Amino acid sequence: MATQEIESKKACVIGGTGFLASFLVKLLLQKGYAVHTTVREPDNQKKIAHLLALQSLGDLKIFKGDLTDESSFDAPIAGCDLVFHVAAPINFTSEDPENDMIKPAIQGVVNVLKASVNAGTVKRVILTSSAATVTINELKATGLVMNEEDWTDVEFLTAVKPPTWGYPVSKTLAEKAAWKFAEENNIDLITIIPSLIVGPSLTPDIPSSVNLAMCLITGNEFLINGLKGMQMLSGSISLTHVEDVCEAHIFLAEKKSASGRHICCAVNTSVPELAKFLNKRYPEYQIPIDFGDFPSKAKLIISSEKLVKEGFNFKHGIEDIYDDTIAYFKAKGLLLKQQN
Ligand SMILES: NC(=O)c1ccc[n+]([C@@H]2O[C@H](COP(=O)([O-])OP(=O)(O)OC[C@H]3O[C@@H](n4cnc5c(N)ncnc54)[C@H](OP(=O)(O)O)[C@@H]3O)[C@@H](O)[C@H]2O)c1
Repeated sequence: MATQEIESKKACVIGGTGFLASFLVKLLLQKGYAVHTTVREPDNQKKIAHLLALQSLGDLKIFKGDLTDESSFDAPIAGCDLVFHVAAPINFTSEDPENDMIKPAIQGVVNVLKASVNAGTVKRVILTSSAATVTINELKATGLVMNEEDWTDVEFLTAVKPPTWGYPVSKTLAEKAAWKFAEENNIDLITIIPSLIVGPSLTPDIPSSVNLAMCLITGNEFLINGLKGMQMLSGSISLTHVEDVCEAHIFLAEKKSASGRHICCAVNTSVPELAKFLNKRYPEYQIPIDFGDFPSKAKLIISSEKLVKEGFNFKHGIEDIYDDTIAYFKAKGLLLKQQN
């Protein structure tokens, strides 16, 4: 792997159609990077229209790439200085997580890292991991502070199989596989570990994480139960604005002294605390605030101390996260019905 300074600016973003990746492509173009991005279906105009629209911002080339196709990343990564591996197979309702999420995620990181070595020009690979690789455990304690030393308990998840267990297992095993491959092949790898990502999206559909974070406002009972399930399984409701997550990706890519895992989490709260905050700030919506004996406090916080000490500043707190997301929902015509 090349070790010289990051001067020429060409980046490859794996999985450009997604919520986070399309926002990252936009920021990279705005910062003057030439960008290669991979999509699974380059001929599907509906799925790539938001990427085609970004071509007016700069030099953006779209390639075909599937995580399970070993050779598909050679062409898009060729000549790039940075690789952002953002794509992940995500299917929360899968009945076969092993084949739908776990195997393709692991295969994907190895395929992307192999192509990064083969290219001979890549100086750093930035892998988008998840807080789901850090916080899930059987600990009953409260007041826990989780950091980059912590790893989700995969044995617990595969034994108990709580709802959505396949996603955290897939993300955890994929990140571990990335570290192993990077060490064996002398790759400069950074992993970034975002909490739930919220904010406006360029994608044609509303991202699932944004719908989840907005459920107390939209009144979607299924998702409110999902949010409660998230607090019980992950230990907290932890949120970050999509712009901060993308800026953190670029910050870590460019910061030569950075190394290892980096948590990126702006806000730690619980369902009842979040509901109280939303009810007070947005009285025009009917936000439930009585959660009976559901735990009012999160059992843990996810600490971004390492990222902040590295020099990163979060731009958006909880107020901005929800102001921006509500404005986005209003622009999509999704909130009118809930207003008094
Ligand atoms: N959103 C969050 O709250 C959150 C929080 C923490 C971490 N993350 C991580 O952030 C990353 C992006 O998440 P997101 O919310 O932006 O998800 P998203 O909108 O669902 O995007 C997922 C992307 O992965 C691509 N993909 C799935 N399977 C693939 C495969 N076999 N080969 C190639 N591409 C494949 C999808 O392509 P198609 O368009 O073809 O389906 C899509 O572009 C993921 O790694 C996720 O685990 C997300």
